Amino acid sequence: MDPVRNPYSPGAGRKPSALVGRNDVIDAWSVSLQRAERGKTDQPIILYGLRGVGKTVLLSRLRRDAETRDWITVQLEAGSGRALREMVGEGLYGPLSDLARPSAGKRLLRALKTALSFKASYDTTGTWNFGVDLSGATGGAADSGFLLTDLGKLVRDVSLAASEDGVSLALLIDEAQDLSSEEIQTLAAVMQSAATDDLPVLFALAGLPSLPQTLAEAKSYSERFRYSVIKKLDSDGAREAILKPARKEGVDWSADALDYVVTTSGRYPYFIQQFGQETWNAATGAAIEFEDARMGVAVGQGQLDNGFFRARWDRTTAAEKQYLRAMCPEGDDGVGSGEVANRLKRKGRSLGPTRANLISKGLIYAPDHGVVAFTVPGMAGFISRQHD
Ligand SMILES: Nc1ncnc2c1ncn2[C@@H]1O[C@H](COP(=O)(O)OP(=O)(O)O)[C@@H](O)[C@H]1O
Ligand SMILES: [Mg+2]
Repeated sequence: MDPVRNPYSPGAGRKPSALVGRNDVIDAWSVSLQRAERGKTDQPIILYGLRGVGKTVLLSRLRRDAETRDWITVQLEAGSGRALREMVGEGLYGPLSDLARPSAGKRLLRALKTALSFKASYDTTGTWNFGVDLSGATGGAADSGFLLTDLGKLVRDVSLAASEDGVSLALLIDEAQDLSSEEIQTLAAVMQSAATDDLPVLFALAGLPSLPQTLAEAKSYSERFRYSVIKKLDSDGAREAILKPARKEGVDWSADALDYVVTTSGRYPYFIQQFGQETWNAATGAAIEFEDARMGVAVGQGQLDNGFFRARWDRTTAAEKQYLRAMCPEGDDGVGSGEVANRLKRKGRSLGPTRANLISKGLIYAPDHGVVAFTVPGMAGFISRQHD
């Protein structure tokens, strides 16, 4: 098929031509958006799951839904080495400057002044100019240095400013497991008090399967948050994710080609997109046939090995590689960390640092006490194919 018209989109965070199987989360968010506009605040939404299941694209969809309703939206990704304070501040600058106008109401002026002081709290050299005279405005003082105070104030003033226009603030944070423990604690507290005070703000966090546990350790009231595990697609969803993009281009899949990609992808969205893309490119006839799928999956597998998997494998040390290899017999399922130690003929404690590094690199997580599992589906299979 014409590669120019290829409708599949493998890649971290790349918007799929058809986002399928996530209506429960999208609908719940839509209800929350409408409730917030009527002054009723809901608890944060927490999306968690393995790599490649579609957390980032779902989070981006939630952001767009808020944007469509003219909300003030900020979407951030933790783990880049930047502090939460700076990411929130810089993320708000654009939306706030769009709003700033000489006729701004009291609440907006207040939010702008607070945002300026928040900026000053992490950046002593730069400043913002909203082109509005703020000398008479109240607000400011979001530069105490205490993240809880400053972030709480910023969220309050900006969300109240948004409500002046009948909208609210949406703050979305991806890879939230990478926030520092101080940041996650503060965020949990800010999110909780925003809900208690009925502030017009909604939060959505996305992260690895360890995220609920991380939040639970941070604050006891995190059990009130709304958790959604994002999983591989069900069988109908996987079919739709493959068929729908092709049909938009007027192309059909034969039943056996479709079955083959559904099965070999394990119904993981990332793999569906990768195999779909290569199968499309391999096809030469009017429709997509089984032989095209066989070829596409083989090529796609090679690309995953060289990209999706290898990128992570190459970031590990020799000792970490050994640890990961010892986890492989269980495949994608978890294994006791004691058993890993046995296999390596080591004492469990001495492997603690290796295990901790692998967790902080986001390659493994602890689904249960004393258990480790891969965060990347298919990683065990990939490792078994590596000989270095
Ligand atoms: N619901 C879905 N339907 C179809 N494709 C999806 C879906 N969710 C994600 N994808 C695709 O899967 C890949 C990984 O998505 P991403 O959001 O980056 O996953 P994660 O953030 O969980 O690692 C992307 O190529 C994306 O287009
Ligand atoms: Mg992601």
